[in-house]
Amino acid sequence: MLPTHVTLVDVGPRDGLQNEAAPVSAVTKTELVHRLQAAGLRQIEATSFVSPKWVPQMADATEVMAGIQRQPGVRYSVLTPNMKGFEGALAAGADEVVVFAAASEAFSQRNINCSITESIARFQPVVAAAHAHGMRVRAAVSCALGCPYQGEVPVDDVDDVVDRLLGIGCDHIGIADTIGVGTAGQVQRVMERALQRVPVAELSGHFHDTYGQALTNIHACLQLGVHTFDTSVAGLGGCPYAKGATGNVATEDVVYLLHGLGIATGIDLDALVDTADFISRALDRKPVSRVANALLAT
Ligand code: HMG
Ligand code: MG
Repeated sequence: MLPTHVTLVDVGPRDGLQNEAAPVSAVTKTELVHRLQAAGLRQIEATSFVSPKWVPQMADATEVMAGIQRQPGVRYSVLTPNMKGFEGALAAGADEVVVFAAASEAFSQRNINCSITESIARFQPVVAAAHAHGMRVRAAVSCALGCPYQGEVPVDDVDDVVDRLLGIGCDHIGIADTIGVGTAGQVQRVMERALQRVPVAELSGHFHDTYGQALTNIHACLQLGVHTFDTSVAGLGGCPYAKGATGNVATEDVVYLLHGLGIATGIDLDALVDTADFISRALDRKPVSRVANALLAT
């Protein structure tokens, strides 16, 4: 049986914009967050407290967080690779922090300049400090379905990182297909293994759509009862350290699928499509989302 309700975490303001070469103003970023919450999103990944040398587009994290008019019931999360990032997140009043590990050593080195083992050691004090301040910790497992440097990633390696992230107390595990190469059967195998370790309410899928498989992969997850997914309005995004990877699956496309299946999301599709139109115009391009383009054409 499929879930009756699905939670979507819009990562557009973070994953969606982090790779933009031209500067996007903090005002545009906060307006994007405002429109997402008005459209019914209850979890929004707002920005990253990472090194501005590594990801210049996220250098305005403090300004973006300060500009957001918080709506009760909305959870604002931010990426924090280390304690310096956590301190920024805490000062900015984030509700939740996201640590990001990889199931591939090569990607760990390129993305956060350390080994998987070193990254877990860096995250440990972040998790402890977050919990001490009543904040939740989500953990992303990058390259769970394939790596741009290593190629195939064994499921055992994914399990190992999941175990280590649970071991330091992370509250939630997100299985990420960083380069969008996974297919439905493979995704189910990885998720089935993760479900042996993580309660279904604390497991999510994060699918980039490079090979056009993300909607199918989400459907494969729904069949296992997984009911939380990261998505990105307008299909924005990509990772600066995963060359050629496209954005996350578009929130509009996932909402259309879910509503078609009779699954509630709490999201107003028309308001979401208007949001996709807003950010796409700000970036001077069309949305990647098929649903947004179809509805904007009518
Ligand atoms: P490093 O150079 O090894 O760090 O980078 P360091 O500790 O040696 O510090 C070097 C400098 O960076 C110092 O400044 C620090 O203060 C500063 P300096 O003395 O040279 O002036 N620094 C910081 N500044 C601001 N905020 C911080 C911070 N930490 C150090 N938090 C580091 C290591 C992890 C910092 C770096 O590699 C980094 O920031 N990486 C982030 C990469 C990133 O954001 N990637 C994209 C997000 S992950 C993603 O998209 C995947 C995901 O979507 C899931 C999926 O799809 O797979 C989540
Ligand atoms: Mg991502």
